Amino acid sequence: ESYDMGGHDTYMHKEIAEQAEAVDRVLRGRIDDKFATVHLGGLNLDPREARSVRRIKILGCGTSYHAGQIGAQLIEELARIPADAEPASEFRYRNPVVDPDTLYVAVSQSGETYDVLAAVQELKRKGARVLGVVNVVGSAIAREADGGTYVHAGPEVCVVSTKCFTNTVVAFALLALHLGRIRDLSVADGRRIIEGLRRLPGQIDEILKAEPEIKRLALHFADAKSMLFIGRVRGYPVAREASLKLKEVSYIHAEAYPASELKHGPLALVEPAMPTVAIVPDDELLEKNRAALEEIKARSGRILAVAHQEQEKADHTIIVPKNEDELDPILMGIPLQLFAYHTALALGRDIDKPRNLAKSVTVE
Ligand code: AGP
Repeated sequence: ESYDMGGHDTYMHKEIAEQAEAVDRVLRGRIDDKFATVHLGGLNLDPREARSVRRIKILGCGTSYHAGQIGAQLIEELARIPADAEPASEFRYRNPVVDPDTLYVAVSQSGETYDVLAAVQELKRKGARVLGVVNVVGSAIAREADGGTYVHAGPEVCVVSTKCFTNTVVAFALLALHLGRIRDLSVADGRRIIEGLRRLPGQIDEILKAEPEIKRLALHFADAKSMLFIGRVRGYPVAREASLKLKEVSYIHAEAYPASELKHGPLALVEPAMPTVAIVPDDELLEKNRAALEEIKARSGRILAVAHQEQEKADHTIIVPKNEDELDPILMGIPLQLFAYHTALALGRDIDKPRNLAKSVTVE
């Protein structure tokens, strides 16, 4: 991958298109089929240390924070270590309790985001162990961390992060699998996840082939003043990231909510002028998600679902290929990157350099 546009009109479009290749790269040379695990060379965490971790705290900003939220779920699901993600910018200002049994993970595309770097420095001053999940090799956060893993997304130029988000989540899946196999994840489950990881590049290409249809949907909704994004558990961080993508590149107001919270407030917003994008994976929460679609439909809300099968209550469904339940979030946001891109294009926005934003926020 290079800075050459390769026939794309924007870096955002180019970087979306590069995702299968990028995922292939983050997987390359790391899978160990014999022991159904992965090797992450720079982790600097021996099995004994990995077994003594009681909690994992992931810190990042913006898109990297959202990738960290999915990462926390993957770690809980595969390694059964309690994990959560928090914006680094909030963490560093709340005088957090730094716990010696907690492993801290700093996530960043650039490796230079000031709030993340400051959080890492504060943690290290307090004796914590900090890993980095970083894209830019040799960046400040990568240097400051005790170890970690590179995301290998390649150069990301567009201010709006796309391929790095996907690769970061895959890197977290690798970390979760690695920790899981040191702890209680079975060989069979290790194999199942490895096979799922290997299917990702082909499935990403399949999703990208649906671009003409996604473009049509983007044009259909481009007149919206505001959009609601909903998802549940695995789908919720996907909804958050998709909502951030839409707002930063198209300037349409977008709000993400857990689908389970609809009836506690946001349902009041639903009317034909407020479309909803719903993340509806074919997992154990499918029926619950369908019930949410019904509630929206009953209030005449327009619905665009991203799902594994046609959703009867939705006005439009973008169908994505099914992977393992745990890995589905990696794929479900990809059509919504294209959705944000085509919405922004239709509205004549400055796609690679949205107003008021910088690629890397190196100041407070
Ligand atoms: C991504 O689309 C955003 N422009 C922004 O939220 C970004 O993810 C954030 O500033 C963090 O950057 P980093 O990953 O380089 O640390």
